[in-house]
Amino acid sequence: MTELRFDGRVAVVTGAGGGLGRSHALEFARRGAKVLVNDLGGSVHGTGASASAAHQVVDEIVALGGEAAANADSVATPAGGAAIVQSALDAFGRIDILVNNAGILRDKAFHKMDAAMIDAVVDVHLKGALYVGQPAFRVMREQHYGRIISTTSASGLFGNFGQANYGAAKAGLAGLTRVLALEGAGHGIKVNAIAPIAATRMTEDLLGELSTRVAPEWVSPVVAYLASEECSVNGNVYSVAGGRIARIFVAESEGVVLPEVTAEAVRDQLVHIDGALDQPFHEPSSLDDETTIIAKALAEA
Ligand code: NAI
Repeated sequence: MTELRFDGRVAVVTGAGGGLGRSHALEFARRGAKVLVNDLGGSVHGTGASASAAHQVVDEIVALGGEAAANADSVATPAGGAAIVQSALDAFGRIDILVNNAGILRDKAFHKMDAAMIDAVVDVHLKGALYVGQPAFRVMREQHYGRIISTTSASGLFGNFGQANYGAAKAGLAGLTRVLALEGAGHGIKVNAIAPIAATRMTEDLLGELSTRVAPEWVSPVVAYLASEECSVNGNVYSVAGGRIARIFVAESEGVVLPEVTAEAVRDQLVHIDGALDQPFHEPSSLDDETTIIAKALAEA
């Protein structure tokens, strides 16, 4: 079995001063990549800042014989995103891999959530991936090679009480993954996402018993595969936790074609509209594909 290596490759990992990002950065460095360790160094709620978080991880990588540079810009502004990408280019001359990992939490039941809580979370998770992703994507497009892995969450894909801001931002990352997978496909760029569960400061009091089974180190090898030249998938989302890895996908039921659409017909046909797991379903690969499926259903009705 040949080892997956990253010699000559440059990886940018946002929010890599601790938790999952640190683990990804170490995994890349161990496999020969040069790593730009980005971290704003604030609290789990996104307050404060310190360059020491990024520098500590760089020191760890260097101590293990790897190569890394630190950056403490915030992902949450266009200027920060540009500066992060420029730091990698200044230090290492190229960018092959971007892991959108930086994140914060501002949990609250939706009816009590204020605008600052919404903005802070959407800015870091969703806008951050766009702001860092866009300059990185341009570089990757020019060099006809790239890998982007974003960090979504079961919170956004399946729902979680008290996380309207976070869940919406994380679901947005899944959408971004699908769009960039299509836009990068002709340019040697593959874009995928993970929905991890890991014991970090973010989940300190949340995982209970599970926390002993889900160290971040179980997640990073999946990121490494998705970041590798050999990665054979594009636009996929994987649930990753403690050695359990599964594909999460968006599918739709076979549905119905109503001769006349009325509210009553929807009520009466709902069981067929909703479908069930043991019945046929579609997994459209794009909006175009979905349109084709709809046109075919209408033509055959
Ligand atoms: P963490 O709090 O240890 O790591 C997040 C890192 O992002 C921190 O080091 C923080 O300083 C950095 N960061 C925050 N705002 C930033 C900004 N504006 N610019 C640059 N860096 C910034 O937490 P963890 O668990 O390692 O989270 C990593 C990612 O995984 C996050 O996106 C999180 O939402 C996601 N995630 C984690 C899960 C878990 O079970 N730990 C579950 C699902 C998703």
